[in-house]
Amino acid sequence: MGKSLTRKIIESHYVSGSMVPGEEVFIRVDQTLTHDINAVMTYLAFEAVGLDRVRTECSVSYLDHNLLYVNNMTPDDHIYLQSAAKRFGVHVSRPGNGICHTVHVSRFGVPGKVSMGGDSHTPHGGAIGMLCIGVGGMDVATAMTGVPMRLKMPRVIRVNLTGSLRPGCNAKEVILEMLRRVSIKGGLGNVYEYTGPGAAALEVPQRATITNMGAEMGATTSIFPADEQVRRFLKAQGREADYVELLPDEDARYDEYIDINLSELEPLISCPHQPDNVIPLKDAEKKKVQQVFIGSCTNASYADVARAALVFKGHHVHEDVSCTCAIASKQTYRELLRDGYIDMLLEAGVRLLEIACGPCCAIGQTPATEGVAVRTSNRNFKGRAGNPTAQIYLVSPESAAATAITGTFTTAEEIMGAEVAVLADVREPEQYIVDDSMIIRPLPQEGAQKVEILRGPNIKFLPVPEPPAQHMCVPVSLKGGDNISTDDITPASAEFSSMRSNIPLMSQYCYHRYAPDFAARAKELGSSIIIGGENYGQGSSREHAAINPMYLGVKCVIAKSIARIHKGNLVNHGIIPMIFADPADYDRLEQGDELEITGLLDQIPARRVTVTDKTKGISFETVLDLTDAEIQVVLSGGQLRYLKKQLEENC
Ligand code: F3S
Repeated sequence: MGKSLTRKIIESHYVSGSMVPGEEVFIRVDQTLTHDINAVMTYLAFEAVGLDRVRTECSVSYLDHNLLYVNNMTPDDHIYLQSAAKRFGVHVSRPGNGICHTVHVSRFGVPGKVSMGGDSHTPHGGAIGMLCIGVGGMDVATAMTGVPMRLKMPRVIRVNLTGSLRPGCNAKEVILEMLRRVSIKGGLGNVYEYTGPGAAALEVPQRATITNMGAEMGATTSIFPADEQVRRFLKAQGREADYVELLPDEDARYDEYIDINLSELEPLISCPHQPDNVIPLKDAEKKKVQQVFIGSCTNASYADVARAALVFKGHHVHEDVSCTCAIASKQTYRELLRDGYIDMLLEAGVRLLEIACGPCCAIGQTPATEGVAVRTSNRNFKGRAGNPTAQIYLVSPESAAATAITGTFTTAEEIMGAEVAVLADVREPEQYIVDDSMIIRPLPQEGAQKVEILRGPNIKFLPVPEPPAQHMCVPVSLKGGDNISTDDITPASAEFSSMRSNIPLMSQYCYHRYAPDFAARAKELGSSIIIGGENYGQGSSREHAAINPMYLGVKCVIAKSIARIHKGNLVNHGIIPMIFADPADYDRLEQGDELEITGLLDQIPARRVTVTDKTKGISFETVLDLTDAEIQVVLSGGQLRYLKKQLEENC
């Protein structure tokens, strides 16, 4: 029986475990990436482990998200991260070089390699046939020590693409269509492997739009074959030597099949407040749009921005619209500048922002009160843009440009008529401008050991949880609903992002927008349990959504379901993730109820824990959907204690 590409890569990196879907497998990790607003905790953890140097083929620290420097905190973080990278043999991509995923696939990615990134959109690299998985920062620290990555062996879904995108349609339409079909949690435990003649015609940045935003389905990752498109891309990056052809076998068996005819797709729009709330753009109620943002790692490639610029040609941004553009990398920016597209944007009244994530994670360009924001980024959760009253819609760059012109939801074809056909002529460059002067290469080990790690006053300690106790009797500090995102738990914005290396400060804002009194209440209670609905912890990989509750004394999260990356972060930071065996029990619990668990340490290995609600006088069952290794991490009191034990045993 033939093999999928995913299986081939996992087999070539196999260390131990089972390759049966749903079971635990350990694989070697070749590359890691981190970015500035999550990485401080990663490097503090790596320091705590006590190794001299990373044990990966290539690790890169990107300074790309928060470049505003509104106070001392972010520059403190950047100085710390740059010095820690030098000390431990890690590349640094300096501020202004570009967004981590875009730069990584362009300058470091190699087909067939396994990469782990402390960001949920790490699957971006699947565009060149890499297996790229988004995880929490503690997992990245673990990978940097050379310890194999634990993974639930995924189911592999073949997505067969036929036909070709019509002008005015973008790869964004493909992933929005996938979200419409699969939903925001339907991808859990799956890898989506794109094949077929339609896939073969998509250029690497188009593929990256799809693999990047596959994260919104809750998928483990998404991947395209390493084929002629990948060879062409790497050649254009001056890296053809890194190309190796990697295809699934023709008779490969998959766990499920999806067919999409690209020719049948029309411009789509994801409506507030979940990415899978997708409808045809033409059917969207014609609301007055206040803000348009073209950018992010998802949709700010050369061809994306060039096509948007062509839609603007001969038009101007509507007087009631604030339209900004943040290009994903310095390389792309220079190409667009050279080819005249930047000038076309400026002429149309588009405001050019710094090369960074920026508005995508609420670092600038917050919409007005109840403002309708139209964005080419990947998430439209309530508050994601920094203002919970705003309504965020997600579209392609072509549709975003058309919308900026009219001030309401509009397709490129409505603006350009038959001229829309010219958009199909825009291709990625045959040769990119290659300039790695903004990348700091690792020092040789001898020199690196002399580097001093610089810590400003914002760099605080990494809190380490205690192992769980045998008996627990604690109140419910919060009962939340379905789809609580990590943005709800630790809000994204310039202000909050700069607190991420200072847990005592940041924890005061835990659940700040969702339940403003939570932090004070949890602190006063000392120890507590959080109750959640479906898909608890969806969205960004930020592990602060686990660290901050842990610091406030949260011992367990009991929910109807928990998103993959967040569940891993809870385990890593000593919070026990529990699932209601009967989801109906959720309705019987209330905030303030006193929950008791006896014999917890004996129950954990059996993956079933009985909880008694002493307030209501009822008992209910919970399930621990954890692998053997995760059970050991939970019993150890988190990944750092577990990892230290592992490294000591292996020395
Ligand atoms: Fe940055 Fe937004 Fe991508 S925060 S890494 S541009 S999802």
